[in-house]
Amino acid sequence: MAHEEIIPSTSNDSLDPVDWQDFRVQSHRMLDDMLNHLEHLREQPVWQPIPQEVRTSLQQPLPQKPTALATVHATFMQNVLPYAVGNAHPGFMGWVHGGGTPVGMLAEMLAAGLNANLGGRDQMPIEVEKQIVQWMRELFSFPDTASGLFVTGTSMANLIGVLVARTATLGSSVRQQGVAASAQRLVAYASAGAHSCIAQAMDISGLGTEALRLIPMNDQYQMDVTALERTIAADRGAGLTPFLIVGTAGTVEVGAIDPLTALADIAERERLWFHVDGAFGALGMLAPDIAPRLAGIEHADSIAFDFHKWGQVPYDAGFILVRDSTLHRSAFESPAAYLRRETRGMAAGSPWPCDFGPDLSRGFRALKTWFTIMVYGTKKMGRVISGTCAIAQYLKNRIETTPELELLAPVALNIVCFRYRCENADRVNADIVVALQESGIAAPSTTTIKGHLAIRAAIVNHRTNTTDIDALIDATIAFGAART
Ligand SMILES: Cc1ncc(COP(=O)(O)O)c(C=O)c1O
Repeated sequence: MAHEEIIPSTSNDSLDPVDWQDFRVQSHRMLDDMLNHLEHLREQPVWQPIPQEVRTSLQQPLPQKPTALATVHATFMQNVLPYAVGNAHPGFMGWVHGGGTPVGMLAEMLAAGLNANLGGRDQMPIEVEKQIVQWMRELFSFPDTASGLFVTGTSMANLIGVLVARTATLGSSVRQQGVAASAQRLVAYASAGAHSCIAQAMDISGLGTEALRLIPMNDQYQMDVTALERTIAADRGAGLTPFLIVGTAGTVEVGAIDPLTALADIAERERLWFHVDGAFGALGMLAPDIAPRLAGIEHADSIAFDFHKWGQVPYDAGFILVRDSTLHRSAFESPAAYLRRETRGMAAGSPWPCDFGPDLSRGFRALKTWFTIMVYGTKKMGRVISGTCAIAQYLKNRIETTPELELLAPVALNIVCFRYRCENADRVNADIVVALQESGIAAPSTTTIKGHLAIRAAIVNHRTNTTDIDALIDATIAFGAART
């Protein structure tokens, strides 16, 4: 390929618009299109299968020449926006996805415009993140010395929790020598209902998934405390080193809350790190009727959770709170000449967020979270959380009074597992869920409860109301009847 001569530019080769006025008009059009989309969500299907021609329409060689912004935007409107997974839609009930808000969307735009890198340095965006850390200390009754950090999601926050616990137990030399150099074999404990990312965190941290004991659950799907104590004693007897208990506040399958106070007591007595995976459940602290059920969370050494689930902040906004900031920092801090700190100038403000996690470059996730909390206030956010649980109870009642349906698990929070009663129930219910999703009426997902395939509806979205539940029930019965 012939090389063009590159002449140092004055300003002509910048990526800024040539005509700001034109760009402004197009910008407003894009904003209006998105606001229209959000305003009229209910009139659209939750989800729709992606036609093959739409899938292939994006495929083209790496473009060398420019395309007009209006053209690219039109492609987005036509071929991308209608075929997203639909978690903003009130009929979305799959997995555990938050709905987002227009306020969060605008804040994300401001953050992108500012283009701040929150790895470190002396800047107000980091003060915004610090304000949220302070609010979370307040919410969870953690000391002023606790540290906190935005991350992608709870999978990453749980990994950080496991790494801090590992380093606190083995000492920071483990960071140079690795776990293999230690004579101690660390073992951790979580309930059989814990999210798979806990095992993954054990894997990534070099401890291995076999070092995670999955403790059986009681009939409420909470960790069986007696079984936990027995397993810890057996492991000590076998010469292993118990180091971590992970309690879950809101299990992914059924929304159960482990007995957090009992787990905190055992962790204290046994001198183990107590980490809480509160991916969606932890923000139940904002709801006066749910907070008492999270009692014991205030004794955790670390808490992982997401603002992008029950907090309705647009993706992604995970968070880790650690009681002892010194231990947290000693698990990650990695001095480098080019990251030298000063007491004045832009390199002031140490410690920096990059001292508390694996990311050096970090986006401004704190801004959309700060806007969300400021604009809505925690009372309203708490009411939304309580409201999703009330809607889950409404769904539970409808299932219990509908002979064609069967409830498969207790409903502790906002997750309801049920099925259509019939022969070949696993096959038929899996088909019903696909039919529901493809119909665009409602979008639950599936899980397995005591060996049975369950239709799983997680009510996370602030837009979901009882008419969406009625639509889910009616469509489930219709699709079930058509298949039996
Ligand atoms: C209990 C629990 N832990 C961890 C996770 C993983 O969170 P994320 O998807 O934000 O990484 C989830 C996701 O639903 C969850 O429900």
